[in-house]
Amino acid sequence: MNKLKVLISKEEIEKKVTELAAELREDYHEKNPLLIGALKGCFVFMSDLVRKLDIPVEVDFIKVSSYGIGTHSSGKIKLEHGTKTPIEGRHVLVIEDIVDTGLTVRFLLDYISRRKPASLKLCTLFDKPSGRVMAVPIDYMGFTIPDAFVIGYGLDFDEKFRYLPDLCILED
Ligand code: IMP
Repeated sequence: MNKLKVLISKEEIEKKVTELAAELREDYHEKNPLLIGALKGCFVFMSDLVRKLDIPVEVDFIKVSSYGIGTHSSGKIKLEHGTKTPIEGRHVLVIEDIVDTGLTVRFLLDYISRRKPASLKLCTLFDKPSGRVMAVPIDYMGFTIPDAFVIGYGLDFDEKFRYLPDLCILED
């Protein structure tokens, strides 16, 4: 039986997403940015963020896989679904739910920079620096979290728990 402990409440998340949106609005309001979300974990954060941003943006998604089933990255990143929107000359902002080893973000940044964007930045809601294997530049960040496997607010364990409104630690 899994036990859940709330690490960051939905109220704290909402406040932080509002703050991030204000910062991004300031930086991107004249740039018609292209937001590229990393599926699947980004979908809750990204949908809250774009509505709070309140400026014209375009969105697209990339799907890569690294985890398979369980709580540890396999270390191998596989592209499952690339972007369709032309990237050359665009101001691109990658939207991630969480950066752990950094391998996924490194893969995404390389994939996008090969397509010659005008600018490329990364926004992640959660950062787990204890897991880092590869250094990655994070331009906009919500919360630094401890070394624990977290679920909720879009993040899953074995495709479960994405619907939870709070960010929780999964304890067994
Ligand atoms: P990285 O490649 O190790 O940085 O992991 C990035 C991806 O792994 C994220 O986009 C998540 O989908 C997943 N991930 C990493 N840590 C967690 C976690 O604690 N809970 C759920 N998913 C995670």
